[in-house]
Amino acid sequence: MRKKIAAGNWKMNKTMEEGKILASEVVNMVKDELRSDVHVILCPPFIHLTSLHAMLEGHSNIAFGAQNCSNHASGAYTGEISAPMLKSNGEDYVILGHSERREYFGETDSLLAEKIDIALENGLTPIYCCGEPLAVRERNEQTDHVQRQVEDGLFHLSDEDFGKIVIAYEPIWAIGTGKTASADQAQEMHATIRKQITGQYGEETANNTSILYGGSVKPGNAEELFSCMDVDGGLIGGASLKSRDFVDIAKAF
Ligand code: PGA
Repeated sequence: MRKKIAAGNWKMNKTMEEGKILASEVVNMVKDELRSDVHVILCPPFIHLTSLHAMLEGHSNIAFGAQNCSNHASGAYTGEISAPMLKSNGEDYVILGHSERREYFGETDSLLAEKIDIALENGLTPIYCCGEPLAVRERNEQTDHVQRQVEDGLFHLSDEDFGKIVIAYEPIWAIGTGKTASADQAQEMHATIRKQITGQYGEETANNTSILYGGSVKPGNAEELFSCMDVDGGLIGGASLKSRDFVDIAKAF
């Protein structure tokens, strides 16, 4: 069975103190309110991770992830953070290929394939993002676009390694814009991705792969999105910065 996941991508938001408050509110609400089969993941900025682990030690109901990692294990790469560092710090997940990384930092599918490999080698679970810009959807070429990203970023993996991947479909026109893909649009793309995985890795692997939707998920639309057969949860940006909203989304399964 695939996991139901609510992952919060804080992006470059929250000071240390604000982050501690937000994380502790989320932990308490999750403890009191959430069903145990929903996996909650918080992805704060790198520098918050250590303090949040220390503060939340013993709260096993939340997992942590980073928003990126280097494609190198160590060395002279000023400003970078490596997968071995993240693992040694207690992270379980790493978001890779977010459209903001692709667009503002020039990350390509081949670079992302390297990052996927190094994350897996170090026992991190990649949350691999894919999704089309508005112009591509307007030309009705979103399927090709997303399938290419999935193929180029992931299909070099062995069956075993692919089985560890989480995918997030995030149409770029819906990220931070308040515009959400309709449940039909999300379901259609998720089903397409799952079919593509079936073709490459077989039905069992495809059925066990969690595919998250991202792009303006809010408490008011989460239930409809998560009720789609192939939508296994959300990668949540803006709404993850408010504990009440984020936990209400996590409760929407
Ligand atoms: P959003 O961001 O929820 O603010 O649209 C989602 C994301 O970029 O992961």
